[in-house]
Amino acid sequence: MTRLSIIVAMGKDRTIGKNNDLPWHLPDDLKRFRKITMGHPIIMGRKTHESIGKALDGRHNIVLTRDPEYRAEGCTVTHSVEETLQAVQDADEAFVIGGAEIIRLFLAQTDRIYLTYIDQDFAGDVFLPELAEEEWQLVSVTPGVTDERNPYRFEYRIYERIRASEDRRS
Ligand SMILES: NC(=O)c1ccc[n+]([C@@H]2O[C@H](COP(=O)([O-])OP(=O)(O)OC[C@H]3O[C@@H](n4cnc5c(N)ncnc54)[C@H](OP(=O)(O)O)[C@@H]3O)[C@@H](O)[C@H]2O)c1
Repeated sequence: MTRLSIIVAMGKDRTIGKNNDLPWHLPDDLKRFRKITMGHPIIMGRKTHESIGKALDGRHNIVLTRDPEYRAEGCTVTHSVEETLQAVQDADEAFVIGGAEIIRLFLAQTDRIYLTYIDQDFAGDVFLPELAEEEWQLVSVTPGVTDERNPYRFEYRIYERIRASEDRRS
C-alpha cells in the first residue's frame, strides 16, 4: 500500500503561494524538502510544475492537468486522482507537493502532512485549506533555525491522520 503524504510550507495567514511562486526564500526548508522527497514520486498541479520550471531530479515527477494535450519534459502527466494513484502504486510513500488545488484533491486520501509553518504574514493569493482538527494529530514539531539566509521564525510540523480505531480508544 502506498502511503500518501502532503509536504507544504505555509505562512501565518495560510498563504502558500503568490504570483505563481513561493512568497519567501527559505533555503533550509528547500533542503529538507529535497531530503524527504528524494527517491519518491512527487505529485503536483500543472501550475506548480510550471512555477518550478523543470522536473525535479531523483524523483518521479507527476503533473496533473485537465488538458489531454499537455506534455512536460521528464514528467508523467496524469488527468485524474485515479490515474495518479495508479502511477504511484509501486512506491512505499508518494508526496503531494502542491499547490492548493492538488492538495485539496488528495487531502481525503492523505495519511501524513509535513507542514513547514512560517510565523509571518505574506499576503499571498493561494492558501492551504483548513485541516479538520478531529482528523489530524500533531505528532512532531521541530524548530527551524533563524539566521541570515532563513530570516523567519519557522517550525517543521508533522501531522498524522487519526484512525477510526484510535478515535474509539480516546
Ligand atoms: N508553499 C508551498 O509549499 C507550495 C508548494 C507548491 C506550490 N506552491 C504555490 O502554489 C501556487 C500554485 O497552486 P495552485 O493551487 O494555484 O495550482 P496547482 O495546484 O499547482 O495546479 C492547478 C492545476 O492543476 C490541474 N488540476 C486541478 N484539479 C485537477 C483535476 N481534478 N484533474 C486534473 N487536473 C487538475 C489544473 O491544470 P490545468 O489548468 O492545466 O488543467 C489546474 O490549473 C503557486 O504560487 C506555487 O508557488 C506552494
